[in-house]
This record gives sequence, structure tokens and C-alpha cells, in this order.
Amino acid sequence: MNERMKELAERLITKHSLAEEEYQYLIENRSADAAAFLAEHAVRVRREIYGNAVFVRGLIEICNICKNDCLYCGIRRSNRSCDRYRLTEEQILACADEGYLLGFRTVVLQGGEDAYFSDEVMCGMIRQLKSAHPDCAVTLSLGERSLASYAALREAGADRYLLRHETADREHYERLHPPEMSFDNRMRCLNDLRALGYQVGCGFMVGSPFQTSQELAEDLKFIENFKPDMCGIGPFVPHHDTPFRDEPPGTLELTCFLLSIIRLIYPPVLLPATTALGTIAPDGRERGILAGANVVMPNLSPISVRNKYELYDNKICTGDESAQSRSCLEQRMSAIGYEIVTDIGDIRKGKRYE
Ligand code: 5AD
Repeated sequence: MNERMKELAERLITKHSLAEEEYQYLIENRSADAAAFLAEHAVRVRREIYGNAVFVRGLIEICNICKNDCLYCGIRRSNRSCDRYRLTEEQILACADEGYLLGFRTVVLQGGEDAYFSDEVMCGMIRQLKSAHPDCAVTLSLGERSLASYAALREAGADRYLLRHETADREHYERLHPPEMSFDNRMRCLNDLRALGYQVGCGFMVGSPFQTSQELAEDLKFIENFKPDMCGIGPFVPHHDTPFRDEPPGTLELTCFLLSIIRLIYPPVLLPATTALGTIAPDGRERGILAGANVVMPNLSPISVRNKYELYDNKICTGDESAQSRSCLEQRMSAIGYEIVTDIGDIRKGKRYE
């Protein structure tokens, strides 16, 4: 590491903040040395707050029907080859019950933007989930909705909401999305969710088309300012039926480097080692944890629909039973010295960091 790299890394570790140009410098001049140094400190600060706990969230992919046409995504509406499905409320509740028996205390309902899952349907389901399992957190990941809708879902009992910002750069956002989607609405959603008292997750893909170190630096500055409760980052992985089919995937190396930086920017953040990371490398999720991540999200969706929720190619674990993916992750985590905890894993109960 040169002097400047060392100075920036040390300031990030002590002050949790850098200027946007400094984040860019860190990214452009990264080396194995710098990555190891940042990972060591990322793991240290995480350990101070969370010990060796890795939190699990049970992911239920409720539908792959989506009105949006994001250029990177395999379930975009113009993909005619996508075999569409929608789980019934009974199926969703049964998955959640199975998850509960397996020890999950957070269920994440994720799906495309599908009008079927209206406020009425979702609120009914959230109420049932909450009354069946009052000790569980309900996380939603259902894309962009109105303030009134987010308010109704929150009122029904939803605790958390995941909505990746995708990129903090307006022009980059426009190159990844069709004209009818807007950067401003994305940001409006994140701000509404926060104002309504949700624990909010944002995030972005590493190595998405047209992304440069400058956009990544903007993402880091956005995260520094927004201080999300959760932050989902994973490599872009091309899907064969999208306009980005021939684009190269993001790398394990850069994703891990950014995970360490994000941990240092906001030490208490809940940071998943994503399925996409496990998809580009067999030990991707372990490497993510060792870089500073502390969440894994095994799949609880029924096996019959697993391979249909295909946002990108070669997604892992599409054939595993819920119990299998849970015990598989438990083994993987214990092999690297971490323990999966079934705790609700609430950032607000962690040690306060200002
Ligand atoms: N590669 C990696 N991640 C993707 N997502 C969508 N498509 C892809 C892809 N091709 C991510 C987006 C979205 C989340 C649910 O999945 O960031 O917000």
C-alpha cells in the first residue's frame, strides 16, 4: 500500500467517512494488501458488535411476475421465456411455518412488482404471519409502491423493507432501467420507508454494465449518508434472456473489497453475503463473511418454483430443500468459525454506533 492508500484506509477505520474522490481512489488503487487490511478491520468492528454471529433470513420468492423491465433482470416483463408463477397465500404461509420450525425468525417476502399482491392481499398475509409467529420479523422486498401502500403494510405489521437503490448515479440508473422508471422515485421510496419507521435496506450490484469506480464511489457516499439498516450488495451476473446477456459478471474480489468498506463506513449495518456471490464462486458466501458480511439468506421457496425465480444465470441452491439449505449454510459458516444464530438479528438492539 502506498502512503495515500494507508492514510485513507486508516481514516476510514477511525472516522467511518471519506470524500467521494477518496472512495474512488481507494477502489482504483486497491491491492491484495489493502483488501486484507480493510477486511481485518471490518471483521474486527463487526466482531465488537455482533461477535461471531451470522444472522439468517428465510427468503420466500412469492412471484416472478413483474411489471418492470429492468435491463439486467431475468424476470423483466419483456422476457417471454420466463415461466411465470405466483405462490398462493396458503403456500406462502406454509413456507413461513416451515421456516419457523427450522429456526428462522425473519421471513423475507420477495417478488416482482405484481399487481395481484395488492395492499389488501399483502396486509392480510402480514397480519396472519404476525399472529402465527409474533416473535418473527417480517421483511418485504416488493419493489416500488406508494407512500400510502408502504404505510398500510407497515400498519399491518411489516418491520423491514429491502429496496436496492441499484446505483446512486442518476445517469447510470437511467442506463440500467427503462424510461418509465426513475431514479427520483427510487429515492422517494427509500425515504418514505425510512420515514414510516421501517428498517430499510438499500444496495447495488457490483460490476453492473457501465459502472465505473466513480459510480461505486457515489454508492459508498450514498450509503455513508443514508446509513441503511441493511445493505445488499452482490455481483452483477448476466442472464441469457436480457439485453445484458453478453456483459461480464462482477467479481468476487471487488465485491469483497466493497463489503469491507461498507462495514467500516457503518459498523452496525446488516450485510448479506448474497446468493449471487455464492453463484460466481463456490466459496463466495464464505469469502463475503470473511470480508465483513454478517447475514445469509437461504431460500424457503417451494422446490417447484425455485428455478423460476431466475434473476440471473446459474443461481445456486435451486434444488435444495429448505432444511438442506439451512444445514448446508450452518456447516459452511461453522467451517470458517462463525455461528448461525436464529435470533431476530435486529440492528436496533445492537450496540449503538453514532
Ligand atoms: N445479477 C445480479 N443481481 C441481480 N438483481 C437483478 N438482476 C440481477 C442480475 N442479473 C438484483 C437487483 C435486485 C435484486 C432483487 O436482485 O439488484 O434489486
